[in-house]
Amino acid sequence: MACPLGNSTDNSFETDQGGSATGPGLLYGEYLCLDKILSAQRLLSAEYDKKVHDEHLFIVTHQAYELWFKQIIYELDSVRALFQNDEIRHDKYVQTSSQNGGDAGTEAIDESRTLEILKRLHRIVLILKLLVEQVTILETMTPLDFMAFRDYLCPASGFQSLQFRLLENKLGVRPEQRVKYSQGYERVFGRDALAMRAIRQSESEPSLSQLVQKWLARTPGLQTTDFDFWGKYRRAVDAWIAEQRQIAQRPGLREEASKQLLNQVLARQAIFDSIFDEGVHAALLSRGERRFEHTALQGAVMITLYRDEPRFSQPHQILTALMDIDSLITKWRYNHVLMVQRMIGSQQLGTGGSSGYQYLKSTLSDRYKVFVDLFNLSTFLIPRHLIPPLTKRMKTKLSISLGCYLHDDTLAEDNMMTDSIDLPPSKEKKTKGNDCQSGKEGNG
Ligand code: HEM
Repeated sequence: MACPLGNSTDNSFETDQGGSATGPGLLYGEYLCLDKILSAQRLLSAEYDKKVHDEHLFIVTHQAYELWFKQIIYELDSVRALFQNDEIRHDKYVQTSSQNGGDAGTEAIDESRTLEILKRLHRIVLILKLLVEQVTILETMTPLDFMAFRDYLCPASGFQSLQFRLLENKLGVRPEQRVKYSQGYERVFGRDALAMRAIRQSESEPSLSQLVQKWLARTPGLQTTDFDFWGKYRRAVDAWIAEQRQIAQRPGLREEASKQLLNQVLARQAIFDSIFDEGVHAALLSRGERRFEHTALQGAVMITLYRDEPRFSQPHQILTALMDIDSLITKWRYNHVLMVQRMIGSQQLGTGGSSGYQYLKSTLSDRYKVFVDLFNLSTFLIPRHLIPPLTKRMKTKLSISLGCYLHDDTLAEDNMMTDSIDLPPSKEKKTKGNDCQSGKEGNG
């Protein structure tokens, strides 16, 4: 954190106390409201005249978690806003570019956003890594020490963490995906109108998952009138399955081995049918086994297969960060469950009234993985030699670096993008010129 008492380089600004007069004159403790934060550790055991040393650690750990939850939500809200803002700009550029007879300006704007989105998602990932590790500090408390103050806590429980629920909802956990016990919020927050309002709002506004899906659905190259990635990909899969079938039936192969290989081919065919057949996809969606809309899934497959193309590099990193977030929250859940079993065993009820360990164990399944479809993308990969080659036009489109195709009236944004990618101005200019030229060739 930048020190609020940081030295000013200009001596004329120094105050008598040695602080800086450039700001509102707050001292470190005032700026950070430390009087509030550092006096917020109220040991219940001490109030009952049976002070337990470890209760201090228990409180501080939870408070640290809540502060980090706050930061994650702050970043998450900004990322969601960037995705939405992006959409508005996308519309604007569709208009502008169609007036100019082109379409690529929209994507250049997308990329300036994706870098910022990527930075913030990466920050969330790092915070979550810290939170996963933080559990171990609390584990230095022994179950016997915990038992000495646990009864004072009732009915308080992490189950009542509003921020944790908001975080889940903003990521995209849907009420119907939740374990039954955590579906009804009224039981927990019913008497807190503000909390209920925040929860309802987090359920009704677009979640990160929904926004990511919209963005994926706009992946360049999906349109049948353009590159028609999905049609090409489907033909490549058909060719692969036919190739595998031939191998399974090649002369001289033992009957048993041939049968086994054919079964594998059939199983693979069924897996691919589940993404090619929209009816099957819809059924999986309605059962909650798949979460992404069909076009979003297509965009994700395309980005994964062509991630080496410059324009897909950042989107691919975004997809990876989203999986990291899901993984780390699952790891946190797992570490928390293990800690709970260590502290209270697997038979005691939680202070929040759930079955404790058993309830928490049931939250470990895929149902809380918002981006589970991204994890499962690996199922739909095909060998490199079968990936449909890009057309010249598509290759050009995906190799264009930031800032290309912008019209004069978009130079302000162009400069903004130059800042964000840290390219030396001369190089940036040259790249732009070259790419724009080749882009014209490609479009011609
Ligand atoms: C000794 C340490 C801990 C124990 C024994 C414990 C125990 C429990 C239990 C039994 C539950 C289930 C709800 C219930 O109370 O009936 C729960 C839920 C929860 N706890 Fe903890 N907890 C501990 C530490 C923490 C910490 C450090 C955090 C950090 C914020 C935390 C956050 C949560 C959250 C968010 C839930 C709700 C999970 C969900 O519904 O998916 N807990 N905890």
